[in-house]
Amino acid sequence: MTFEEVRELESRFLIPTYERLPVLAVRGEGCVLYDERGKGYVDFLGGIAVNALGYNHPEIVQALCDKSESLLHVSNLIYHRFQGQLAQKLARWTGLDRAFFANSGTEAVEGAMKLARAFARRRNSDGKQAEILAVENSFHGRTLGALSATWPVKYRAPFEPLVPGIRFVAANDAAALRKALTPEVAGFIVEPIQGEGGVVEMSTEFLKTGEELCRKHGALFICDEIQCGLGRTGRFFTFQKFGLKPDVVLIAKPLAAGLPLAAMVASESAAQAFSPGMHGTTFGGGPLQCRLALKVLEIIERPGFLQRVRETGDYFRQQLERLQSEVPVIREVRGDGLMLGIELKTSGKKVVGQMLDAGFLINCTHDTVLRFLPPLIIERKHVSSLVDALRPCLAGLAQTAVNSPQEVLQ
Ligand SMILES: Cc1ncc(COP(=O)(O)O)c(C=O)c1O
Repeated sequence: MTFEEVRELESRFLIPTYERLPVLAVRGEGCVLYDERGKGYVDFLGGIAVNALGYNHPEIVQALCDKSESLLHVSNLIYHRFQGQLAQKLARWTGLDRAFFANSGTEAVEGAMKLARAFARRRNSDGKQAEILAVENSFHGRTLGALSATWPVKYRAPFEPLVPGIRFVAANDAAALRKALTPEVAGFIVEPIQGEGGVVEMSTEFLKTGEELCRKHGALFICDEIQCGLGRTGRFFTFQKFGLKPDVVLIAKPLAAGLPLAAMVASESAAQAFSPGMHGTTFGGGPLQCRLALKVLEIIERPGFLQRVRETGDYFRQQLERLQSEVPVIREVRGDGLMLGIELKTSGKKVVGQMLDAGFLINCTHDTVLRFLPPLIIERKHVSSLVDALRPCLAGLAQTAVNSPQEVLQ
């Protein structure tokens, strides 16, 4: 099938929810994705932070082909060997106690919102502590519950009315948080680094204030680590950088090497708010996904792996900062580890196309932020070649920004 045929078929038969880049992916190797003509793209998007081990990782392929373990699905009505092991490992990594497995990030968020309300209802049956507090600019998913805790109006407006009882507080405004996190709040949900919101890191003061107020009011402190967790910033989880102790940690994207799997990991007391029948899913935590996830975690926790992520991330950041000193169109370099972004003074959308032509997959979020979420195995040579390719694109943009002030958003 040619690329044109694929496009034609999709345009006729798919519900048009995605704007795709003009690439037909046919295979991948390490950090490089190849199209049908054999052109390679160094992948700085990583399937939106999913392909942490790159493409075709030999140990993942081996695990997939293991003939002695052929179960694909058994349902959550019976046992298989891998869910308990994976829950144990995630409990160890998060410092928490129990896990619930779902299929996508948005479902993990749904689970946490339900858990927060059930937890509050257990302590106080009058139902007055039922609010969920989220952060402006956040992204937590697309189902109605998770969408209600997601900030951008463009995602929310077409689907109103949304789930009631969800409020927002300004990011990194600890004083506003002190006012907003009242005894009516059952759960405070926050991304330690906002991803879709433009790679914006929360401050220690903001996060600590949220944690303390949750403790004070008996609300659940929920860290959404779906994008920034599992090694992305060179630690198991980003909340660990701030010395936090969340009640609930949400994990998804890279967990099962590209198969759908998410986890809501909770403290013992929070977890006790759910009893059999209160929550569930047909597919969540299937044997194949859990087995692959165990392999992913085994690889990430090997000596030196996370240190390398930190080192490559630091190098990447330095390179971007150097670029900032060379091209005036860069407003700011942000992020941590291998979750980095550069905010431009103008729209970055056309840079994505130019970089594609140059053989790099990148992403633009929030219109002005170029976001980089490469596989965690990315190397310095990939980083330098990306920065070399970005330089002329951004220098060209700088010219546009100067010539067309109306394009400059702020
Ligand atoms: C922080 C965060 N939470 C939740 C989600 C939703 O995850 P999913 O797309 O798997 O439903 C995303 C997806 O990008 C995310 O970045």
